[in-house]
Amino acid sequence: MSKEAVRLVKVDTDNLDDLIKLTVSDEQKQFVASNIYSIAEAYATVAEGGFAQPFGIYAGDKPVGFLMIGYIKRGDEDDDEDDEEETPDYVYDNYLFWRFMIDKEEQRKGYGREAMKLALDYIRTFPAGKAEYCWLSYEPENKVARKLYSSFGFVEEPELPKGWDEIPALLKL
Ligand SMILES: CC(C)(COP(=O)(O)OP(=O)(O)OC[C@H]1O[C@@H](n2cnc3c(N)ncnc32)[C@H](O)[C@@H]1OP(=O)(O)O)[C@@H](O)C(=O)NCCC(=O)NCCS
Repeated sequence: MSKEAVRLVKVDTDNLDDLIKLTVSDEQKQFVASNIYSIAEAYATVAEGGFAQPFGIYAGDKPVGFLMIGYIKRGDEDDDEDDEEETPDYVYDNYLFWRFMIDKEEQRKGYGREAMKLALDYIRTFPAGKAEYCWLSYEPENKVARKLYSSFGFVEEPELPKGWDEIPALLKL
């Protein structure tokens, strides 16, 4: 682990330019949206009255990654009623570890694990309201993410919800 302390900094007009430059390798692009897309999605979510909090991950003063937390309140979702019936219960009124990436040049230095700890500390302040779980999902081929999440106690759901290609996993808060 590098010596610089890892910090989460909320995305704002000062750090936006630095954070949208961070990228994963070409092979990893299937696993995570670009940061610019995620930040646009956070903007749209908040504009609709929902909750999305994007963060830059910093090692000291250096931007090294990006993560985003969400929370979908039951009733706020834009699914039609049929979709809602098929959406698993844990999706609502729980925290979503929505996006997570460390820049390709900064991976395997311990920043991801440290950032994840900080993100869970933040979630446990319940910034969008009470919740029992944090949930996330990942591509079945994403062995690194799968192992990392499992080491934090995330447990895979036994069933893949209809229409999903990513495996959901839950952590009791
Ligand atoms: C997942 C990701 C955020 C991890 O970030 P990171 O800073 O490299 O992670 P760390 O350095 O803290 O390493 C965490 C663990 O993963 C392991 N690891 C990281 N990269 C690895 C690799 N390429 N191959 C094998 N193991 C790897 C580390 O050895 C470490 O294991 P340990 O803690 O058991 O010793 C990063 O790989 C990434 O951005 N991937 C592409 C985007 C992505 O998949 N996001 C998640 C979407 S669900």
